Amino acid sequence: MIILGVNEGHNASAALLVDGKLIAAISEDRPTRQTTRSGFPFKAIEECLALGGITLAEIDRVALSTLHLPPKYFWIPRESFSIRDFWREQNEFWKPRLFEGKRPVYMDVFKDRMDPSRFIYDPSLIKDEDDCVGMLEARLRHHERFFGLPRERISVHDHHTCHAWYAYMVHPRRLDQDLLVFAADGAGDGVNGSVWHGVRGQPLQALHRTNQCNIGRIYRYVTLLLGMKQFEHAFKTMGLAPYGNPKYGQLAYEVFAETLQVDGLGFSYRIKPKDHFFHFKERLEGLRFDGIAWGIQKRTEELLSEWVGNGVAATGCGNVVMTGGVAMNIKANKVVWERPDVHSLFVPPGSGDESLSIGAACKVAVDFASVPGETISECLPMTSVYLGPSFHDDEIRKRLDRTSGLDGCTIETVQLPRIAQLLAAGHVLGRFSGRAEFGQRALGNRSILADPRPREVVRTINEMIKQRDFWMPFASSVLAERKDDYVINPKNLQGDYMTLAFDSTPEGQRDMIGALHPYDKTSRPHVVERDANPGYHALISAFARETGVGALLNTSFNLHGEPIVHTPEDAISTFLRSGLDHLLLGEWLVSKPGKS
Ligand SMILES: [Fe+2]
Repeated sequence: MIILGVNEGHNASAALLVDGKLIAAISEDRPTRQTTRSGFPFKAIEECLALGGITLAEIDRVALSTLHLPPKYFWIPRESFSIRDFWREQNEFWKPRLFEGKRPVYMDVFKDRMDPSRFIYDPSLIKDEDDCVGMLEARLRHHERFFGLPRERISVHDHHTCHAWYAYMVHPRRLDQDLLVFAADGAGDGVNGSVWHGVRGQPLQALHRTNQCNIGRIYRYVTLLLGMKQFEHAFKTMGLAPYGNPKYGQLAYEVFAETLQVDGLGFSYRIKPKDHFFHFKERLEGLRFDGIAWGIQKRTEELLSEWVGNGVAATGCGNVVMTGGVAMNIKANKVVWERPDVHSLFVPPGSGDESLSIGAACKVAVDFASVPGETISECLPMTSVYLGPSFHDDEIRKRLDRTSGLDGCTIETVQLPRIAQLLAAGHVLGRFSGRAEFGQRALGNRSILADPRPREVVRTINEMIKQRDFWMPFASSVLAERKDDYVINPKNLQGDYMTLAFDSTPEGQRDMIGALHPYDKTSRPHVVERDANPGYHALISAFARETGVGALLNTSFNLHGEPIVHTPEDAISTFLRSGLDHLLLGEWLVSKPGKS
């Protein structure tokens, strides 16, 4: 059975599942070059089908995620919003609505941000900007037309169901362990927190669903109050938090602690704010920015830890899975896995809305493949995170040869010992090789790589290409054989996707200080197994032979504010517009003048 999963909301994406195997998954932001792109994912669908060698006519079923998507966000794509636009949203839309008894029209407030070309659905089916029922009908009719499928072959799945099923189905121990799945996010289909139980591969059962799990909502509004984008920059608040301390953060912490509380498998309030922006804006006024970050992070860690603890106590299941946008808080994940009652923690790659397409496709596969009471081993959707397109070396060479702007650059065949020597000499490389990785983390194939030993490598890369905020850390790729040398992982958790944080060992602080959080020295490693990515493993091994260090600094291959590179042209363009010394493009090493 050929199933195509589609997410049209925030972080739109497509996924192709053929006979239970995940063949391809791509976020629409990569090919469109628009970060967090929403809307029908034309390009991602086209690329997924091409990767599977599947035509539109061969698709058996289409699985959509999320029942309720407000039309206004299709007309006004918020991925183009500036920080000031998000503040305007609060001041000119939410404030009059919540505090002044007015009913402002979103599309009037943001008429300067309207992009009618992005609205591809039949507007005659939609009553107003919040008409999710009409919008769903318009979406279904669009899919019927686009795929040439009858309505009964197109299904729509609840947002949190997609989150939970994705995480469950890609878990490596699903068939021999009971798993307890927690999904937490901004919100989807009226739910922002859910708890699920899966018994040794049998279909996942929902234990609790709530619309009061406002951890993600509070965190994103605090991010906006700190002057950063509410959706994209929550990780910056997390990175800032370790610089705070109780002296400057305790008052902020108390502001958060007096509101949202864990209540069994759900949540309740001690003091219920009328909203989650102005309430905190008023109470945090005059407090230091780093203290606010410290306070919200501490409270987030407490809430998630207590919530998970209640789930473990209720089920007796200590094998925990976390997913949804909130699960991208790797520091809170660390507090969760350190709990004595948590035996294991798994956080899948791309746990935000980009994986909803996979979750929807998995749900349909399971519905058709499983017999009640039996396991669902027929559906084995993820054996690799490298689910995007790749390019043949001959094709790459042709594209290199017809690219202008490379005058003076040298092009030679990649030799791993030479690459290792360049890295050891302090050169910084962009690596574009093999299939693109799924999710927001670069896992070697679309990565910028550097020697992780010098502290000043962070500044070098920032000046060269990333322009990251000064407090933000870089991450590492660590040979699986060396992981215990560098990070403290007493529960032997899977750290393959940069979704978990660990304390570092003294050896880790010696060998990869440039790839640790500069203040608390924690690491969010990408542990590289040889079988998972042989070419990348061989490159790090060559560096280890050259230097004795079994790790590289690894950050995503993109310019500040742009999505990760997707094509050879993107990689070449980024190389030319940045201070990168070299570009590894398939089997070719391109070096700037004076760098070879
Ligand atoms: Fe979500």
